Amino acid sequence: MGLGHGTPVESDLRARARLASAAQATGLLKATGFASAGLVRVSSRLCLSVEHGDYNGTDLFGIGLDRYLWLAFAPNELGIVRAFSADFAGEGLVTFDPARVPLPTSSAAPSGWARFPLGAHFVLERSGRTCRRGFDVVIASDIPSGGMSRSAALSLALLLATMVQNRIALPGRLELARLAQAIENDYTGSPCGLLDPLMIAFARAGIGVHYSPASDSVRSVAWGGAAGSLCVLSLDTGRHRHGLGTSTYSIRRRECDALLSTLRQHLGVASLADAVRDDVHERAVQCTLALHPDLFPRLRYLRGAVRRFPSMVAAFARGDAASIGRLVREDGISLRDDYAISGPELETMCDLVRPLPRVHGERMLGGGDCGASGAIVDPAGAEAVRAHVEREYPLLQPAYAATFAVRECRPADGITFLPIA
Ligand code: GLA
Repeated sequence: MGLGHGTPVESDLRARARLASAAQATGLLKATGFASAGLVRVSSRLCLSVEHGDYNGTDLFGIGLDRYLWLAFAPNELGIVRAFSADFAGEGLVTFDPARVPLPTSSAAPSGWARFPLGAHFVLERSGRTCRRGFDVVIASDIPSGGMSRSAALSLALLLATMVQNRIALPGRLELARLAQAIENDYTGSPCGLLDPLMIAFARAGIGVHYSPASDSVRSVAWGGAAGSLCVLSLDTGRHRHGLGTSTYSIRRRECDALLSTLRQHLGVASLADAVRDDVHERAVQCTLALHPDLFPRLRYLRGAVRRFPSMVAAFARGDAASIGRLVREDGISLRDDYAISGPELETMCDLVRPLPRVHGERMLGGGDCGASGAIVDPAGAEAVRAHVEREYPLLQPAYAATFAVRECRPADGITFLPIA
């Protein structure tokens, strides 16, 4: 796996300062000295299409965005793993013996974010990779807590650090993404799909990542516009979402499973993506209306999003941000009304930006309920949109006046190893 040793970006400076002060406060990364630690930066992601398609078997298309998670790592001489996240400072230092990682179901398994570092060891050992060396990790990120894949970035960063510290050859990107998904599915208990780690593992600044489940393969689509002309505003509602396990996401997954099992029985389809294909769709509609009328809107969302998919990829290839925004908006309205996966604060953000000039489109992002919405905007208008949201959002959602944030984002590389000093 050829992972980039990349160029520093502006936010690296702030991140390094946060990492250095966290290392100082916790006494981590001392054995080698902070300046000799390794540093990996992992991006967030924007799914351009099909949101909620990964567990429904659709093609997927998305990009990395320049909200990042940084992880500094260095060996210690203690034979244990010590980890600290500045994002979960209240949860303190996580320490464990890499030779005795408890099973996820064991009462000895920790709760909270600590499950991620243990989960990385668990899935690597389960895949036949021996990880017994002691090392320290210190983490900081500026990714919102919902919608932009902070947990996938964390899982990828921990896997990479754990493998580097144990001198294990890095796997290919698809396998890496699957290991990251396994941390969440099998250790932290999140029912997430492959979309997030996959998009991040393959992301590069000037390209879109197109995954086809039929061939289990990824192709790159070059951005057809000028560099920097695709501008995304992340509209972090300030309402945090901790995990998908207890969210509407789990309910939607169960609903989709139930609908699929009926359609499989009656129409022989292998996924809901198959059920919305032109040659099957009409029969799938009749069957759904007869046997699961309450779930018909879920099918309607998927049908619309799958039909928009080729237009989205084509708009990206010709560098047409306005069309991308229009398709994002159509997806967003159907995610809100048909898939019913949005949340009040997410929609407040969308309602605020939708009428503004230079906003091409907007919608809730990712797993749903809370976290961040996003807007595709003309870069020349980004500042005015930000100012508008900063003025109006606290009036409409005062409970989140202290925690919401609007950030201008650009497409970014997914995984980058950097010098720390
Ligand atoms: C979350 C999940 C992903 C995907 C998205 C919705 O981010 O982790 O697997 O299902 O929601 O597209």
